[in-house]
Amino acid sequence: MNVGGQHFRTIWLKPGDEAVVELIDQRWLPHRFVIEEVRSVAEMAAAIRDMHVRGAGLIGAASGYGMYLAAVEAARSGSNFDEELTTAAQTLKATRPTAVNLGWAVDRQLQAIREAGTISEKIASARDAAEQIALEDAEHCRSIGRHGAGLITQIAAKKNGAPVNVLTHCNAGWLAFVDYGSATSPIYAAHDSGVPVHVWVDETRPRSQGSKLTAWELGQHGVRHTVIADNAGGHLMQHGEVDLVIVGSDRTTYTGDVANKIGTYLKALAAHDNGVPFYVALPSSSFDWQARDGVRDIPIEQRGADEVKCADGWLDGRHAEVCITPADSPAANYGFDVTPHRLVTGLITERGICAANEQSILAMFPDHAR
Ligand code: MRU
Repeated sequence: MNVGGQHFRTIWLKPGDEAVVELIDQRWLPHRFVIEEVRSVAEMAAAIRDMHVRGAGLIGAASGYGMYLAAVEAARSGSNFDEELTTAAQTLKATRPTAVNLGWAVDRQLQAIREAGTISEKIASARDAAEQIALEDAEHCRSIGRHGAGLITQIAAKKNGAPVNVLTHCNAGWLAFVDYGSATSPIYAAHDSGVPVHVWVDETRPRSQGSKLTAWELGQHGVRHTVIADNAGGHLMQHGEVDLVIVGSDRTTYTGDVANKIGTYLKALAAHDNGVPFYVALPSSSFDWQARDGVRDIPIEQRGADEVKCADGWLDGRHAEVCITPADSPAANYGFDVTPHRLVTGLITERGICAANEQSILAMFPDHAR
């Protein structure tokens, strides 16, 4: 997508030095646009854990590149190649538990590396697999846009030129993937084809991915949007101000239960109560083909209490953090919640839109049927 008129992906190999991965360090957005150079698997693990990169698809792509860096490092160190790769896989997988794309990409890399012959073939294979994971992520997100734009266009046809109001939570935009995004991809596609769209952007405390990231990328693309406090969605739905909800997913069971950023479940309940369609956009890499019951089977990340107790932003041209709560008050920081499939109108995938139930999902992805 474009930043100041220039095309960027969120992660790429450094031109001229392919032992280095470059990525957009999202901690500084929207105030500064910083590109970070990552040279080792330890640095990539830190970038994922500390959320320089975040979002399910991008976490997957970053761990794919992380495994490639691990292969380069293992070859240089001269120690046991396979052992180093196994340790690297464990390190990466331990960074964030909820986004299933992480383990999916690491396992895909381990297989690609295992199947190659010599060490230099293994490095080449890991490089190709990392690039392929990133490319597929972008392509799948582009297809999600094509399929999902029809939903917005159908609503627009009934609104006599008034904008279609889409509510989204967190950032499932291009910053959460390699390009295009999942939840935002249909919005960009509809906007680009001339459909008037306006987006209600949930602020998404505590990390504020909505107000910091989604608002920024919609602005870069020229899409009308309004940032709202996290609790405003129900009120807007009661007053007919939301035509459609589209959110992303960090892990979706093969039965259609959706783990997404904390607060998504409450939006789904409000949408259900108000008859507002609630769609989840996800590439197939975000399905967990082993998990049946989302509430029981999906691990929910808990992060540090300081993210809740404090807030950060930009003050006088500098990054600043302030404390909000009484210093002694404990805080809990659950990163995700699970929306049961009965509250989900449909899933927008790279292959098309299906109902959020086992039968429809496996009909769309028969390659994963047991
Ligand atoms: O904690 P994050 O920022 O990595 O969370 C991911 C998200 O942005 C959301 O949950 C998103 O809607 C799904 S990821 C495409």
